[in-house]
Amino acid sequence: MKIVTVIGARPQIIKASAISRSLSEYFQGKTQEIIVHTGQHYDRNMSEVFFEELHIPRPKYNLNIGSGTHGIQTAGMISGLEQILLDERPDAVILYGDTNSTLAGAVAAGKIDIPIVHVEAGLRSFDKTMPEEINRILCDHVSTLLFCPTKAGYDNLKHEGFNTDISLHPTFNNPNVYLCGDIMYDNTLYFERIALAKQETKNRFPEDFILCTVHRNTNTDDKDKLTDIVKALCEVSLYRTIVIPMHPRTKKMVYSLLSEKTLDAFVNNKNIIITEPVSFLDMIYLESQASLVITDSGGVQKEAYFLKKPCIILRPQTEWTEIVETGSAFIAATNTDVIIKKAKEYLDCPPDNFPSLFGDGHAADFITKTIHSTLNG
Ligand code: UD1
Ligand code: UDP
Repeated sequence: MKIVTVIGARPQIIKASAISRSLSEYFQGKTQEIIVHTGQHYDRNMSEVFFEELHIPRPKYNLNIGSGTHGIQTAGMISGLEQILLDERPDAVILYGDTNSTLAGAVAAGKIDIPIVHVEAGLRSFDKTMPEEINRILCDHVSTLLFCPTKAGYDNLKHEGFNTDISLHPTFNNPNVYLCGDIMYDNTLYFERIALAKQETKNRFPEDFILCTVHRNTNTDDKDKLTDIVKALCEVSLYRTIVIPMHPRTKKMVYSLLSEKTLDAFVNNKNIIITEPVSFLDMIYLESQASLVITDSGGVQKEAYFLKKPCIILRPQTEWTEIVETGSAFIAATNTDVIIKKAKEYLDCPPDNFPSLFGDGHAADFITKTIHSTLNG
């Protein structure tokens, strides 16, 4: 069987490692996996570091698309991917999540009738002003195999009219929808032990800290929202050191949008450690040691939950609704006072309600076995 895996943005490279690992464990010699990198992320610490650290097969193709407006970036990817798919003629294309690379893969493969496997299907924020919401809806609706990580995702697809009966031979017009757990839970379990053993990481970070990441365009590109987040972080840093591995997008906008006074209070704050983006093993280490996680990242809010850490979500809503329902994650959006109040509350009284919501750690195996049993030949 020949499978093309499309990746492009940081979280997709990390996700792909779970599927590649499962393919090599169960289908060595029976499956050829061809990795195509769109080049959406290209800095060493946004791309290459993950291939090295997580032992992901090297891409056979890199489209080197780079950054741009949504239209320019996505269009470049579509035409590049179309040509590769026409040349390779795979039995299936695997797409992850909801980035522009996902959308481009969906349009390219869908139009030439190559079955699409969507990993992380069904998630919805119900906010179509998010580019990711458009990407994930469009991808789901041209997929042949849809793998939902959570019950909420599965239910969303049912409400959108997907038939949830399982067919032995799913097709474009008669897709199969599965509830299978989250491959990032698989990855977190798999890499946690390795991450915790890295002494060199322990030496680089303080003992007691809050971990924060921010990169969502609605936060970084809006002066008021970015200022509100930064003001909250400056206040919270009075209680605990904050470590911020900063996305390149955020770095650019912090320096171009913040007032001189706010910028100075932020970047010259001795209780705020701003670093370049870190590797996945370092990130897992940081998440597992932090007393609190503050983030607008989809992946980071989930990993905080996997590692039983409270999380303040810097968005007005989340696709991972179940973690908020437990009380261990809280939606604060960019409200400075709410972020500060909740941070104090979580630091003083950490939650301990983390029921199992993301499967059994073998979602990737379910996915590879299902691809083989339904799309092979
Ligand atoms: C993208 C995804 C988002 C995902 C995030 C993961 C879309 C629409 N958005 O957002 O869903 O959560 O990736 O991190 O696909 N840049 C660099 N170096 C890089 C990559 C980006 O400097 O290696 C800078 C560029 O200035 C670029 C900006 O970051 O313009 C944004 O990059 P882009 O890939 O367009 O979107 P992300 O915000 O990373
Ligand atoms: N991540 C990482 N280094 C960092 C920040 C994030 O390895 O400096 C990992 C994180 O552990 C998670 C994934 O990247 O697995 C999340 O990606 P991101 O926050 O960029 O995007 P999102 O999940 O919001 O799409």
